[in-house]
Amino acid sequence: MNPIKDAAMDHARPIQLTVNGETHRCTVAPRQHLVDFVREDLGLTGSHLGCEHGVCGACTVRLDGAIVRGCLVLAVQADGRAVQTIEGLSQGGSVRDLQDAFVARNALQCGYCTPGMLMAAAELLETQPDATREQVRTWMSGNYCRCTGYQAIVDAVCEVLASRKATAAAAARGARA
Ligand code: FES
Ligand code: FES
Repeated sequence: MNPIKDAAMDHARPIQLTVNGETHRCTVAPRQHLVDFVREDLGLTGSHLGCEHGVCGACTVRLDGAIVRGCLVLAVQADGRAVQTIEGLSQGGSVRDLQDAFVARNALQCGYCTPGMLMAAAELLETQPDATREQVRTWMSGNYCRCTGYQAIVDAVCEVLASRKATAAAAARGARA
């Protein structure tokens, strides 16, 4: 029995949302954070908790397509919206090349920061396909890593940017031929 949790649940609210494409109808305490909801209520433990203050990025998830800090968003704020976690992102296969580049470049050691890093990098790849190395560094600076020293992470993201750009250019040439 947890009296604090029980008291919070006295004011529990029903919510309905999709998480990784699946609809969930749940009851949550008004102060439960989104990252705690996906981890504890849905068992999606790929999103991690680090600072719990919006600083480290370990808890990064997508809300209606844009990345947010799961420790700064309440589960009730996700009512009626679409959430994607690292499980949904990786199962969809769209970041396979990014995951492979992280492994090939040793861009992870303990792996605690990696889900958040992949979520952040995926958004960069989608929204800034022409990003420079400096822009990659700036973008990824919102996610902290205690192990790798960042260089390998930036290398991995830049490698995928370059390889996706080359693939797109080759496809464009093929379409014109
Ligand atoms: S745990 Fe959310 S930003 Fe650190
Ligand atoms: S790999 Fe350990 S915190 Fe980044």
